[in-house]
Amino acid sequence: MAARRWLPAPLGPILSRRASSSPKQNWPAVSVAEAGAAASAPPAPSGSGTPVLEVRHLGRSLPLGGELLEILRDVNFSIHRGEFVTLAGPSGSGKSTLLGCITGLDSPTTGQVLLNGTDISSMRESQLAGIRNRTVGMVFQAFNLIPTLTAQENVEVPLYAGNWRGSPSDRAQELLGLVGLSHRLEHRPSQLSGGEQQRVAIARALATEPPLLVADEPTGNLAAAQGKEVLDLLWSLRERLGTTLVIATHDRTVGGYATRWLQLADGELTSDSPGPRAGSR
Ligand SMILES: Nc1ncnc2c1ncn2[C@@H]1O[C@H](COP(=O)(O)OP(=O)(O)O)[C@@H](O)[C@H]1O
Ligand SMILES: [Mg+2]
Repeated sequence: MAARRWLPAPLGPILSRRASSSPKQNWPAVSVAEAGAAASAPPAPSGSGTPVLEVRHLGRSLPLGGELLEILRDVNFSIHRGEFVTLAGPSGSGKSTLLGCITGLDSPTTGQVLLNGTDISSMRESQLAGIRNRTVGMVFQAFNLIPTLTAQENVEVPLYAGNWRGSPSDRAQELLGLVGLSHRLEHRPSQLSGGEQQRVAIARALATEPPLLVADEPTGNLAAAQGKEVLDLLWSLRERLGTTLVIATHDRTVGGYATRWLQLADGELTSDSPGPRAGSR
C-alpha cells in the first residue's frame, strides 16, 4: 500500500532498559512534550471555533491489477471540540482507511485533512510527525502494547519519546489513575485482562494531552462487559478532559454513546446525523 512510511519515534531510556530487541508493534503516533492544546476545560459547544478535524473532498484510491480501486470518494465533514463521533459502516467500507488519512499514517489521493486548522495532507513526514504527535492519540483494536514493559512503562514511552516537561513516571501514574488502573502499574500486558489492556492503551494515547483521540474498533477484541467499561471510560474522558473522539466501529453499542453519527458505505459518507447523546455536556 502506498501509505506513508511510518516508523516509531525514539523510544527513550525505558526501551533500552527493558526490551531486548525492537518492538514489533505498529506503535501509535502519540507523544511530544509541547502538547499544549489539551483539555482541562469542559467541551465548548459543537460548531464553535476552529474544527479539531476537517476533512475536505477526501479521496483515496489504489492501483490494483491494472485498475484503480477507489477506497474513499469525496468525503467531507468537520468535527469540533468535545464531539463524540462514531464512524459506522460495514466491514470493507473504508473506515480504517479514513482513520489512516485523518491521523497522517496514510496519504489521501485527493482532498485535504486539517488538524486544528493545519493542512496535513501534503506535509512531509518530518513536519507531519510533530503535528500528529501533538494533536492525535490513537487506540487500536488489538491494544498494541509492548509486551515486555509494565503498564506504567507502556504509558511512559511516549513521554520519554517526546521529552515530556514533567516526570514521566508521575504522569504515567496519574494517567493510569485516570483510567482506574492505579493497582496495575507493575503488571505486564499478559497479566492484564483485555479491558485493562485497552485502558492502558487509552492512557498511553492521552499521555501527551492530544485534543483528538482516534480509535479503530476499540471494543472489537473485548467481551461485552469490558467493551462497555472502555466506552464509559471514553465518555468520561470527554467530560473530564474535553477530549474529542472519533471512533470507527461496527459495534452498535458504541453508537449509543455518540453525540454524532457518521456512516460510510462503499467509500462514501452516506449519513451525518446527531447521535443519541447529542446535546450532552
Ligand atoms: N492495501 C490495500 N490493498 C488493497 N485493498 C485495500 C488495501 N487497504 C484497504 N483496501 C480495501 O479498501 C476497502 C476498505 O478497507 P478498510 O478501510 O480496511 O475498511 P473497514 O475498516 O471499513 O473494514 C476494502 O475493500 C479493502 O479491501
Ligand atoms: Mg477497519
